[in-house]
Amino acid sequence: MCGIVGYVGEKEKKEILLDGLQELEYRGYDSAGIAIIENQQLQHFKAIGKLQNLRDKTKSYESEGFGVSIGHTRWATHGKPTELNAHPHLGEYSFVVHNGIIENYQELKTELQAKGVTFLSQTDTETIVHLFENYYQQNSNSFEAFTRTIEKLDGAYATLLVTEADPDTIYFAKNGSPMLIGFEGKDVYFASSDTPIIGKATEVYYLEDGEYGYAKDGEVTLFDANGEKSFSKKALATDKAMAQKDGYRFFMEKEIYEQTQVMNDTMMGRVLDDRVEFEELSGDLFKNINAIKICACGTSYHSALAGAYLLERIAKIPCHVEIASEFRYKEPLLRDDTLFITISQSGETADTLEALKMAKRAGLKSLSICNVDNSSIVRESDKAILTRAGIEKGVASTKAFATQTMVLWMLTLYVAQRKETINKERLQEELDAMRHTPKTLLVSDKLHERLHRLSKRYLHGHGFFFIGRDLFFPLALEGALKLKEISYLHAEGYPAGEMKHGPIALADSELFTVALMPKTLHYDKIKSNVEELSARDATILAISPEPFELADDFVQTTHDEHPMLEFFEMMVVTQLLALEVSIRLGNDVDMPRNLAKSVTVE
Ligand code: AGP
Repeated sequence: MCGIVGYVGEKEKKEILLDGLQELEYRGYDSAGIAIIENQQLQHFKAIGKLQNLRDKTKSYESEGFGVSIGHTRWATHGKPTELNAHPHLGEYSFVVHNGIIENYQELKTELQAKGVTFLSQTDTETIVHLFENYYQQNSNSFEAFTRTIEKLDGAYATLLVTEADPDTIYFAKNGSPMLIGFEGKDVYFASSDTPIIGKATEVYYLEDGEYGYAKDGEVTLFDANGEKSFSKKALATDKAMAQKDGYRFFMEKEIYEQTQVMNDTMMGRVLDDRVEFEELSGDLFKNINAIKICACGTSYHSALAGAYLLERIAKIPCHVEIASEFRYKEPLLRDDTLFITISQSGETADTLEALKMAKRAGLKSLSICNVDNSSIVRESDKAILTRAGIEKGVASTKAFATQTMVLWMLTLYVAQRKETINKERLQEELDAMRHTPKTLLVSDKLHERLHRLSKRYLHGHGFFFIGRDLFFPLALEGALKLKEISYLHAEGYPAGEMKHGPIALADSELFTVALMPKTLHYDKIKSNVEELSARDATILAISPEPFELADDFVQTTHDEHPMLEFFEMMVVTQLLALEVSIRLGNDVDMPRNLAKSVTVE
């Protein structure tokens, strides 16, 4: 996720901006920049890579006197991490920074280009500053130009704009991406979260979606769709560590709660009214492709398995999934009519990267599904689809898994559209379910409290089985991995239909079985599998929309009409179960023993 900072006042601005951006590093970024207007002078600096590069570039610069200033750390969603794509983006005499995704930027950009506007970057953000200047030329009223600009934007944005046309004012607008305003005397600060202004501001106002306005002469004037509005400030938190976690106990917990928002970003500009589009994919990627092979590790392997069910069932294309560390040494038979897909949160997993190189040497076309632009796997692939999950700090992957699975679901429809294996009605059903997914991922206090209370019963025993069928088998594997890696209790995911072929011998009251029992997919089959276990006194935790009287514990989900909505809802339940068990055991949830966030060695 990008990071935004802003300041208007008499203080030295460069350090305020750079220190503020430093506090946002935890959000992840691949480039950064600042822009300052003072004494009618526009200054701006940008650098790719770490913030130190920007500090080096600004070493000899120091601001003085009253002025306005904005800064940004960029997590690439549109366009590679380059200086040109780094924010702030410049028009003729104005600068803008932005966090989010402007869904209609292409059409706005085309309209502006038709008027002779030249774009320097590949970003959606640059559209904002040119749109502003286009309107300003018409009436020389910067606030009206800003208001008209915001009205034209579809999508998610938290944006700050400064202009030589109005050198003592910062314009701001918020919709879908976070931004707050900090106050200290005549000084006004802006930031994506608390940490950059802790120790500087003493009061804060958290902007709501649809709010916009300007800061001038130490005052903030706020508007929403109904016009100007008053607002009340609150005391600012003082604990930076807690602020980085936005008040959650662990990054993993925060990232579970973030899934509902990042899923909107993942779908933004891709799930359209009547189809799925990927601007990243040119038409010829699937030309002469008759099969798909997906290769990954760990959690990414689990999302690959789920994707394979969807690709075969809906896109009618054979799809085989491989564990990268196995694939590398099995002397695989590879055909050049197979598209080789790698999935990786970090984009640096050694086994997955080497498997990709093997496939490329064999002449296969490659596509990566990744969370980090410009990572080794992305750079090595012919094409890449970014999951847009933002930085994932918790070693145990959550939002990366959710967004990988969503990208595979979207890719399924994209392929099905091209191969004409899906009719309009079914396509609309799938798109409707996709659009409902963010709501499904919302974590209710009731659910979290239920898992917190339940978790006390699962702190011992001789192990867990997570069982599921079809799409829910990969989810069972993922649920087991989540529990294993942060509680250190033994757990394994298993196909429910396979329990009677041996593992049921383990069944007794000390064997905990977490049963994923969706209503929309083979419910009667999974029910009988669970009954077999219950009959042998296994302790059952059933997760289902349907009450199951043989369960020792039961988490009721909602009656979703689509298997993928049940999938995502049960995914959240298994994530919270692992989180709460781990917390009760006193483990370091974010940094579990023996694990690294990215396994860059064999
Ligand atoms: C996930 O919870 C684990 N931390 C681990 O299995 C991870 O998914 C695996 O190492 C693959 O990492 P990648 O997605 O960055 O390639």
